[in-house]
Amino acid sequence: MKRKMVSALLCATMVAGMVVVPAATAQAADKKVIGVTMPTKDLQRWNQDGTNMEAQLKEAGYEVDLQYASNDIPTQVSQIENMINSGCQMLVIASIDGDSLGTVLEQAKEKDIPVIAYDRLIMNSDAVTYYATFDNYMVGTKQGEYIRDQLDLDNAAGPFNIELVTGDPGDNNARFFFGGAMDVLQPYIDAGKLVVKSGQTDFETVATANWSTETAQSRMDAIISANYADGTKLDAVLCSNDSTALGVTNSLEANYTGEWPIITGQDCDKPNVKNMISGKQSMSIFKDTRTLASKVVEMVDAVMKGGEAPVNDTTTYDNGTGVIPSL
Ligand code: BGC
Repeated sequence: MKRKMVSALLCATMVAGMVVVPAATAQAADKKVIGVTMPTKDLQRWNQDGTNMEAQLKEAGYEVDLQYASNDIPTQVSQIENMINSGCQMLVIASIDGDSLGTVLEQAKEKDIPVIAYDRLIMNSDAVTYYATFDNYMVGTKQGEYIRDQLDLDNAAGPFNIELVTGDPGDNNARFFFGGAMDVLQPYIDAGKLVVKSGQTDFETVATANWSTETAQSRMDAIISANYADGTKLDAVLCSNDSTALGVTNSLEANYTGEWPIITGQDCDKPNVKNMISGKQSMSIFKDTRTLASKVVEMVDAVMKGGEAPVNDTTTYDNGTGVIPSL
C-alpha cells in the first residue's frame, strides 16, 4: 500500500513537474465513513433503503458501513457502538425501537458524531441532529380516506364492519399512521356507521409487535373466529402497512368465507402488489425510498461539509427532548 502511494507520487511528479497527488489516492486517504443501520432484511423496503443509501453515498464520495439488525434491539445497539468506535463520522439510523438508543447515542454525542434518524424518529435522545421521513400522518389519512370513499360512508346506509391493525408500538411512525387514519374514520365509528365488532380500537390493542405478518395473522384468526365465523360480513380492515396486510389476507383466506373486505396497506411490497393484482388487497401506498435516500444523502453531505442540512419541518416531530429539525 505504502509502496503504491510512493510510486503514484513519483509518477505524478515526473509527469507534471511538481507534486500532484492523483485524485484517487487523495480521496482514499480522506474519505469519510458514514454508518448506516437498517432494522431488518426481512422486509423488501429496508433492503431497498439500505441499497439506495449505500449506492448514493458512495456516489457522493463517502465510504459506507451498512448494517442490518435482524429486528433485534441489542444487535442494533452494538452495531451503532461499533460504528462510533471504528471512526464513522456520521450515523444514519432507521431504528427498531425508537426508545432504545438513548444510551448508545450518548457516546455519539460525546464524540460530536451527528445522527440522522432515518424514516423512524429516535425518541428521548438529544443526540438526534436531524430526522428525514415521509409524511406519515398523510399515509394514514390516505388509508382512512380510501376506506371512507370505497364504502361511500357519507351516503350509504351501513352500518359496516371494520377491524383495525397497526404497527409496532416502539415505532413512532405507527402512531402517525394510525392517528391519520382514525382522524378520518373515528367520526363514522362514533356515529355508528362503522362498527368494530371485536371492540379492539385502542392503539396498544391493535398494534402489531415488529410489524410481524405472523402476529397480524394470528390476531386476525382470533378476531374472525370470535366475530365473523357465523357469516357476519367484514367490510374493511385498516392495515397500516403491507406486512400486516399480508397476515390479515392469509388469515382471511384460511378462515373467512364471506364477501372479501377492503384491505389497505403501504410500501407496495411484491407479495402485496401480487395480491392487489389478484384482488386480495385493495390498495397500498408507494413511498419511493430512492427519493428518501437521495434527500438523506444531501443532508449528510451538507453536514459533512460543515453546513446545516436542508429541512422543511421544524414543528411536527418532537422526540421528547424537543423538536427535531426534519425533512
Ligand atoms: C415504515 C413503513 C414500514 C414499517 C414496517 C415503518 O416505520 O415507515 O414503511 O412498512 O415500518 O417495516
